[in-house]
Amino acid sequence: MVDASYEFVVVSNRLPVDRIVDANGEVAWTQSPGGLVTALEPVMRQADGAWVGWAGAPDLELEPFEHDGIRIVPVPLSALDIERYYEGFSNDTLWPLYHDVIAQPSYHREWWERYVAVNRRFAEAAARVSGQGATVWVQDYQLQLVPRMLRELRPDLVIGFFNHIPFPNYGIYSQLPWRQQIVEGLLGADVVGFQRVADAGNFQRAVRRVLGYKTHSTSIEVPAIGEQPARHVIAKAFPISIDSASFEALAARPEVRERAAQIRHDLGDPATILLGVDRLDYTKGIRHRLKAFGELLAERRVAVEDVSLVQVASPSRERVAAYMQLRDEIELTVGRINGDYATITHPAITYLHHGYPREEMAALYLAADVMLVTALRDGMNLVAKEYVAARSDEDGVLVLSEFAGAADELKQALLVNPHDIEGLKDTVMAAIEMPRAERRRRMRALRRRVRENDVAHWSQLFLAELAGVGRS
Ligand code: F6P
Repeated sequence: MVDASYEFVVVSNRLPVDRIVDANGEVAWTQSPGGLVTALEPVMRQADGAWVGWAGAPDLELEPFEHDGIRIVPVPLSALDIERYYEGFSNDTLWPLYHDVIAQPSYHREWWERYVAVNRRFAEAAARVSGQGATVWVQDYQLQLVPRMLRELRPDLVIGFFNHIPFPNYGIYSQLPWRQQIVEGLLGADVVGFQRVADAGNFQRAVRRVLGYKTHSTSIEVPAIGEQPARHVIAKAFPISIDSASFEALAARPEVRERAAQIRHDLGDPATILLGVDRLDYTKGIRHRLKAFGELLAERRVAVEDVSLVQVASPSRERVAAYMQLRDEIELTVGRINGDYATITHPAITYLHHGYPREEMAALYLAADVMLVTALRDGMNLVAKEYVAARSDEDGVLVLSEFAGAADELKQALLVNPHDIEGLKDTVMAAIEMPRAERRRRMRALRRRVRENDVAHWSQLFLAELAGVGRS
């Protein structure tokens, strides 16, 4: 049993802890590496907080428990829930649709029905643990119906929602057969946060087009519905960030610096290391990056002895067909480029299909002369911010897609359109050849931005907005 007493409740698809089962079958929980939990930890401790989410494996019926001072409230998902709600509707309908249909979204009614049912389960779990007048903060596209369901169950709550991925323009959004239900679901919140100003604008337009409600600046007028009085909902941008101080401290550790030097040595001491770090996802523009690099080698604008590309592509959503196909295409391309240009001592591309601990990531960032973020569409891209946070030596060049949310803030990066392969090649060359003074000037400005707008600042801004709503 759980008390309905928590003053601050976070609801997200995944819990902020990972379940580890050792060889003897012993279960332990470790905090997952994400920035969200770091940002919300102080608020959680101060306000008597609970976190509602899925433990990441099928059919786990777990009692709520305490982890590091946070109440963890697991929501079970069956194998069929995972197939239809998570892999299906979340990641094969909403994900491609919200990323501007880079891949074709699939629309299946049984996926939608399961999305509704699972969202209801999360809403009920949150309603059970929330104290009178508590603040509940719902995270991301997997749970867009939760705000309204929760408001119906518990009109006393103050409800926030933050969308970590883009919100598409209406021409695209309107494809969704359930476009009205999703918009109504989100409007159950008092504050709906987005990564970029453009995302908030797209959402407001969807509200006007689908429901005919009036919007003024960041405010949406929601008329009285049944028992519920008329309300104002705030929809605006709160660009998310990372725990930059802890990342900087990690990258400053002597063993991490030594590891960075070792990586360069092991790659054959090339003059330039290019680095890509992504989940293996079709939104990330990995194919475009490989194509540009392959052409630079083919045209002899770079030589394999001088320039080496390291591509970390961490496994993701491996049972979704579009991800399987992408993996095949990327691995074929890497094989071809290496076959054509690598030598025994100098790989053209070092392709790593693994996830790595933060220490190894920090070492890779330090080793990388040029960081390539070439997403075709990305809510924010925290890898770009991690790279900047790691570079206290004020060196390194960030090549950043203009289609990543981070481009709104990181103006001193070399901004690129990844669809323009010639432009991308020229930008990679400009990054490789950039003089030290310019690298330093740009990196300093980027670092100032990332340091000042860290994830704690993000959550403070959002929660302050929500607290304002609660008082009015
Ligand atoms: O960017 C959206 C997001 O849900 C992140 O919060 C998460 O880190 C990533 O996609 C991977 O999501 P998952 O492995 O849960 O599908």
